[in-house]
Amino acid sequence: MLVIVIVIAAGVALALRPRDGGGGYDPYFRALNDLLKREGPARPVLLLDLDRLDRNIDVLRASIRPPKHFRVVAKSLPSIPLLRYVCERAGTHRVMSFHQPFLNQVAEQLSDSEILLGKPMPVRSAERFYADLRGGFDPSRQLQWLVDTPERLEEYRALAGSLRRKMLINIEIDVGLHRGGVQDTATLDRMLSVIVAHPDRLELAGFMGYDPHVAKVPGWARSRASLIAEVRAAYRGYVDVVKERHPGLWTDRLTLNGAGSPTYRLYEGDTLLNDLAVGSALVKPTDFDIDTLAPHVPALFIATPVLKAGAAARLPGLDGLSRLLDWWNPNLARTFFVYGGYWMARPVAPAGLHTNPLFGRSSNQEMLNGSARVELGVDDYVFLRPTQSEAVMLQFGDILVVRGGAIVDRWPVLVQ
Ligand SMILES: Cc1ncc(COP(=O)(O)O)c(C=O)c1O
Repeated sequence: MLVIVIVIAAGVALALRPRDGGGGYDPYFRALNDLLKREGPARPVLLLDLDRLDRNIDVLRASIRPPKHFRVVAKSLPSIPLLRYVCERAGTHRVMSFHQPFLNQVAEQLSDSEILLGKPMPVRSAERFYADLRGGFDPSRQLQWLVDTPERLEEYRALAGSLRRKMLINIEIDVGLHRGGVQDTATLDRMLSVIVAHPDRLELAGFMGYDPHVAKVPGWARSRASLIAEVRAAYRGYVDVVKERHPGLWTDRLTLNGAGSPTYRLYEGDTLLNDLAVGSALVKPTDFDIDTLAPHVPALFIATPVLKAGAAARLPGLDGLSRLLDWWNPNLARTFFVYGGYWMARPVAPAGLHTNPLFGRSSNQEMLNGSARVELGVDDYVFLRPTQSEAVMLQFGDILVVRGGAIVDRWPVLVQ
């Protein structure tokens, strides 16, 4: 009986044996590895491919056409030279900001930009912005504060009064995401009345209605067409409140902002919104491997050197179990320890590398495993794709900028 159980268990184990996923670098990463081994910093570094970034900007420009404007999402591309590059190539001055220290740096260093906040900031944060403001940026013309409730509007009105300044107010509306913002026209009506009553301190600058759920809700639950129709209907309802109940506030210069990387390409036929915010799609981290962004290509990679390259994975204190696992899984045949690790990122080159959940993660020197076919030695680089850009891009110091297979620049990131 026992023999039968063992034979069946061995049969099942063999049938479920993972296939060998290992390989070498493709030509693109082989060239980058050669480049970094010659000229790289020999530590973990963030690499931005300008040729690929250009391709992504061109895809975006073909989709967002006048009279619509492209607004670059600063948190997803947190570097002044990078933001400047994107603005120049895409022909925009519009920026969306989400963090007060970044807001001040953009206002000072890209002083001709026109900035919309992407989230409602505590009024003390707004106060700090004005206290830290340097240079020629004029917030009364160039900065739209995002306000989500009548209470916050009142706080901002009081701040505008005490600073003797005028503030441009953009109102966050809920168009289906349910992440806050105004959710009914009566509340909007009240807020607009406050703006009308304080023309010397407050000016309506527009609306912001963010909608990533349209690309994320599974198709079997809701059709994308019905979700986007719902977003447009909700947006139009709020715009109509201005036109019908406060016509003095209406002008076709209002910023009607919406979308984000996952959805911007769904607005090609739309005539209501005039301002679409996009950041991540321009570098395409793995969270943005979605059908709506199929023409975009990954442009951002972490590259880190291999410190140690060895044979099969061995779990400390569990040599017997290690041998069994190594026999069973061909993708454990080789072990590499890399410089740093535990980033929000996935190994992509050479093919078939993966972290080891049993050994555990490490941000000092992380274990990666691969099959005998993984071509990798000490001092070679492992390449990973970040899952998102905003937090990851701030972890490596200057970005290494490459074009045509050469390092062409080093760009500092924003200071936290
Ligand atoms: C208000 C708002 N607009 C747009 C975006 C889109 O940013 P990205 O294109 O980087 O996804 C975001 C992302 O969080 C957002 O919060």
